[in-house]
Amino acid sequence: MALTRQQLIKSYLDFFKSKKHAIIENVSLVPEHDPTVLFTTAGMHPLVPFLLGQKHLLGKRLCNVQRCIRTQDIDEVGDSFHHTFFEMLGNWSLGDYFKDEAIEFSFEFLTKTLKIPIEKLAISCFAGDKDAPRDLDASKKWESLGIPKERIAFLPKNNNWWGPAGKTGPCGPDSEMFYWRSSKKAPEKFDPLDDTWVEIWNDVFMQYNKTESGFEELKQKNVDTGMGVERTTAILNKLDDDYLSDSFLPLVKKIEELSKKRYVKEETKAMRIIADHIKAAVFIVADGIFPSNVERGYVLRRLIRRAIRYGRELGLEQFISEIAESVFDIYRDYSHLAKNKDKILNELEKEETKFLQTLGNGIKIFEKLVKDKREISGKDAFLLYQSYGFPLEMTIELAREKNIRVDEMGFEKENSKHQELSRTATEGKFKSGLADNSEATTKLHTATHLLNQALRIVLKNQDIHQKGSNITPERLRFDFNFDRKVTNEELKEVETLMNKKIQEKMEVKREEMNLEQAKTSGAQGIFESKYGNKVSVYSIGNFSKEICAGPHVKNTRELGKFRILKEESVAAGIRRIKAFLE
Ligand code: SER
Repeated sequence: MALTRQQLIKSYLDFFKSKKHAIIENVSLVPEHDPTVLFTTAGMHPLVPFLLGQKHLLGKRLCNVQRCIRTQDIDEVGDSFHHTFFEMLGNWSLGDYFKDEAIEFSFEFLTKTLKIPIEKLAISCFAGDKDAPRDLDASKKWESLGIPKERIAFLPKNNNWWGPAGKTGPCGPDSEMFYWRSSKKAPEKFDPLDDTWVEIWNDVFMQYNKTESGFEELKQKNVDTGMGVERTTAILNKLDDDYLSDSFLPLVKKIEELSKKRYVKEETKAMRIIADHIKAAVFIVADGIFPSNVERGYVLRRLIRRAIRYGRELGLEQFISEIAESVFDIYRDYSHLAKNKDKILNELEKEETKFLQTLGNGIKIFEKLVKDKREISGKDAFLLYQSYGFPLEMTIELAREKNIRVDEMGFEKENSKHQELSRTATEGKFKSGLADNSEATTKLHTATHLLNQALRIVLKNQDIHQKGSNITPERLRFDFNFDRKVTNEELKEVETLMNKKIQEKMEVKREEMNLEQAKTSGAQGIFESKYGNKVSVYSIGNFSKEICAGPHVKNTRELGKFRILKEESVAAGIRRIKAFLE
């Protein structure tokens, strides 16, 4: 059944609404409750506390469409189906239905709503290993619905297990649905290695919690599913290239028009990269991130600069904002895009101008550096980065095209000499994924709430608010608005107040209330409607009150001793404190 992107989203949400699911908000790409991950990479991210047992205010059955960014596969972008930005449809059961119903829903939606013939479907289930048994419950259910045995493959953890996204957390076997993307008749037996079979949906049965010591059964058994909008729209329209679907086509057409080249064989790679990266960049800026050399800002910079480099291959210059216009046309349903359009385009143009000033010379220097060489030294890669704005990955990519290596370790050494937050730290965060909700990060999270309030008291400024937070098991990092350096004496005072409050053994309490009540109760936080009108508020004694999804410790006595490592400026009017607990 041919559907547009918006029609697919609507029919998915309508379907799950009819199955008593509440629709939750499509939240920011910058995870609010998950400071250890750079971007929202799946619809389940904002739901982690609820998958671990906290009660969700909208109930146990949820669904949505979620904007996502995944950068692990950035090098793969250029083929017909890899993207950094994508939209994920998802439905969740928080300890409500489990495998049987989840599979029934998936089957009904695919075959009845989308009218995909059963002959074009195949399924994979978890094969079983020392951690968990073969998933016969899932395979039997699929068979009972009419999927032939030969069309069900059992695959190992690598293929049929999802999560935890971090080191620990909810995870479990999954069952994936594949579609036969060809007009030829599908073979009777499902061969997962035949890439005419494309994965369209993933049902994850989150029944385990991975801890430091192994897998334990979760008390609450959850379902977490994910279906990619771009891929599914493409196959429903019988397209074998996601970039021809309506999530991309206007972008591709615009690139063709500006470059006066056709979207055919040798040009497809560059055009796809440009389309994908510009789209991702628009969405990242729309969620409040600006190009920089650290973390999210660095990813954004890398995307924009990579698009510019590929643009050059097509003979394009100063083209980003013109192509970006199409993103606003495709995604008219995202009101935050339209609202911030000028600001977003302006930001992209600024970055483009900046890079174009050095790109030409940088390429010349690069050519010189690689002449008769087998390797680019760390020092030279750093020169390209520092003086010509080449993200390391771009140097590696350019070098790879010439069969030359780059001394990445050497680069890191040079880089860390110059800045504390190296790229490795950023990359590490992609890999570590989700907040592990470990004891250490939970404690630091509670300490962050105390710090927010302690700063307000010591600096005698009630308008201080959190502007960013990032927690690893080792330390917290807290950004707040304040327009001068915090003196050493003041930092000492903050430390003393923090430790005094910790020793008061204050109880940490969670309450649910509506936004109005939260506001009048004086809770800190963002008063935007999330999860309907209800919010969860954490208070620490009478000292601090914040809207937050948790998790937190039960009592401040668990925290130990608070120490500030460093205070510094991060942007105009924004200060940053790094601290840890002894
Ligand atoms: N979290 C799972 C995935 O990303 C299901 O949505 O595939």
